Amino acid sequence: MCAMRFLVITGAGVSAESGIPTFRGKDGYWRNLDPAKLATPEAFVNNPKLVWEWYRERRQRIRTAQPNPAHAAIVKLAAYADAFLLVTQNVDDLHLRAESEGQRLSRRKIVQIHGDIFETRCSRCEFAFSTGSPEPPGSGVVGVDNGRLRAGVARSIAPTSTEEDEAIPQCPECGELMRPGVVWFGEQLELQKIERVENYLAQASCDVVIVAGTTAAFGYIIDWAVRARDPDGRLIEVNPDPTPLSPFATHLIREPAGVALPRLVDELLVSAGWRRTMR
Ligand code: OAD
Repeated sequence: MCAMRFLVITGAGVSAESGIPTFRGKDGYWRNLDPAKLATPEAFVNNPKLVWEWYRERRQRIRTAQPNPAHAAIVKLAAYADAFLLVTQNVDDLHLRAESEGQRLSRRKIVQIHGDIFETRCSRCEFAFSTGSPEPPGSGVVGVDNGRLRAGVARSIAPTSTEEDEAIPQCPECGELMRPGVVWFGEQLELQKIERVENYLAQASCDVVIVAGTTAAFGYIIDWAVRARDPDGRLIEVNPDPTPLSPFATHLIREPAGVALPRLVDELLVSAGWRRTMR
């Protein structure tokens, strides 16, 4: 094991090399599409069909995408680190599908702070189910019991492939429209997820904070990255372009994440002496 404490924060740039468009980049979604028409509660009220079409297209693209070396490198770091948390703004499942040495990232080590695109949840009550990739639609139905997700219920109301393709799903419990389980502009982050991040920060400061593939457009991303770093620790930004976080970084790696992260992780693990431990 590596006796260092790590926080990794990722954004859309980490999935770019898997063929998933970013939001603000050159070919990013927000260059041609209006977030106000697709990613706000108001947009959903005004045109749920359009919003669902967009999210279904994205789900489909993600289902066919494969994790890239950046995702795998993060899994490797998590496997060797004594203390590790990944906070991702990505709603795709590529961090969870990535493998390193036959291992995947434990859900305990990842916080999807902007939600999960494969979750479908009621826009009024707490009913939710997951049509996770690569599982077929309906295989991962969950319900809510006293605020906790419970697995295996309501399997019969899981969407059929036709529904997944066309209809706007309705909640089987209250009849309201179901929506993707992501955070939209103007919405609060989930409190329980914020607490997981804050608890990790409160336990101890981090020897290494890596922020990869994000424009760090949200204040909480910069705040967590800066607060997590131990005064003697490193804050490493991996991004071809400068961001608002760059002035706070101790190290800047201006390369694509799929190139930089495998090398960086190996260097960190060697410098932390894990090779000695493994022998
Ligand atoms: P952005 O699209 O804002 O930023 C992507 C960043 O990745 C940019 O800074 C690029 O320079 C960088 N980048 C591009 N290719 C890269 C590569 N191969 N390796 C490393 N970096 C690369 O995406 P996010 O910062 O993730 O919100 O956006 C944050 C949030 O805004 C998203 O989670 C989404 C969006 O609206 C929600 O869905 C709530």
